[in-house]
Amino acid sequence: MIDVEKIRKEFPILNRQVNGKPLIYFDNAASTHVPLEVLEGMQSYYLQSHSNVHRGVHTLSQEATDLYESVRQKMANFIHARLPEEILFTSGTTEGINLLAQTFGRTSISKGDEILISTMEHHANIVPWQMLCEQVGCSLKVIPITQQGELDLDAFTSLLSERTKLVSIVHISNVLGTINPIHTIIERAHNVGAKVLIDAAQSIGHQGINVQELEADFVVFSGHKMHGPTGTGVLYGRKEWLVSMPPWKGGGDMIETVTFERTTYNSLPYKFEAGTPNIMGIIGLGFAIDYLIKTGFDTITSAEKILLEHLSTELSTIPGIRFFGTSSNKIGIVSFTIDGTHPSDVGTLLDMEGIAVRVGHHCAQPLMQFYNIPGTLRASLAFYNTVDEIHAFGRSLRKVLTML
Ligand code: ALA
Repeated sequence: MIDVEKIRKEFPILNRQVNGKPLIYFDNAASTHVPLEVLEGMQSYYLQSHSNVHRGVHTLSQEATDLYESVRQKMANFIHARLPEEILFTSGTTEGINLLAQTFGRTSISKGDEILISTMEHHANIVPWQMLCEQVGCSLKVIPITQQGELDLDAFTSLLSERTKLVSIVHISNVLGTINPIHTIIERAHNVGAKVLIDAAQSIGHQGINVQELEADFVVFSGHKMHGPTGTGVLYGRKEWLVSMPPWKGGGDMIETVTFERTTYNSLPYKFEAGTPNIMGIIGLGFAIDYLIKTGFDTITSAEKILLEHLSTELSTIPGIRFFGTSSNKIGIVSFTIDGTHPSDVGTLLDMEGIAVRVGHHCAQPLMQFYNIPGTLRASLAFYNTVDEIHAFGRSLRKVLTML
């Protein structure tokens, strides 16, 4: 059983007022809040050990390097990777996908090949592949979804062929909350020799991921959606694939030797980490992992499941409400419209009530086109939210609807 009052003390921002009302933060799919122990850990790094990594013989540089590299091992354990060098630090999910498109994509995908994505992808898992298709002449195929917001697995299977080189698919939709059957997807893709990239941005902070159990080829996610700092993320890749990929960005740390005639590249993972990395951010990410492990995914998923049930019940009594993403296998992300209102108007009035929700297309315009709507309101939960907040949200929503 979660002690939510105790947990909320670890997130002082949740106690602030917005527009004179207690903040109700239901925008966790966009970014999660950061607990005190992560903030204190980052501060202590800056106060005690800050220096550049991999570059110095002096004590501070060695301390900073040890702290930074210890997170790589911690992250490998957290996602069940075999080796720390399978963890590449990035600035987030978007950078991870772009890195893969411009390295694995440029060298392993060519004219006539196909990449499969789905209707429920967000732009970061669409645009880098469109750019690659323009560069190498491959084509992008889209796995359809049902009206409930679930993947059409039969259609997926019939799209697979020996031309499929990559399936790049979201684990949990940022709009619909649907949990996709990634185990089945990976298995079927591997049967035709395709590799699979899992976008775990919305799953990493809610249920984690086990890359070995899944036999995943590549996985990307962001630190700021798992209670860590912004500007941090991971691209996991199986060592066999990473070794054969060319580097992407050139500069310090990714080189072995440089002459004006020729450069040789560093070993994994440094080959992909040019320039001074986000040292403090990655160290903070390590504290976020500690925090999630201490809290426990069992506790997190059961608390969020109860919250989702309350939220669904509360909202289903609102006249004119239409839900997007009604799979029974989903997390606490609830997207909806209300007849006769525009999501932005409702969202703005909710902000006056101290309530943070996201409105708009949620970086998933093709999904909005599928439902033939300009956008939705989206309430997205985390384990530090409360049932009282859900009831207050319902009351405020009813109030603002009388104002429109
Ligand atoms: N993908 C993030 C969201 O859904 C930014 O809000």
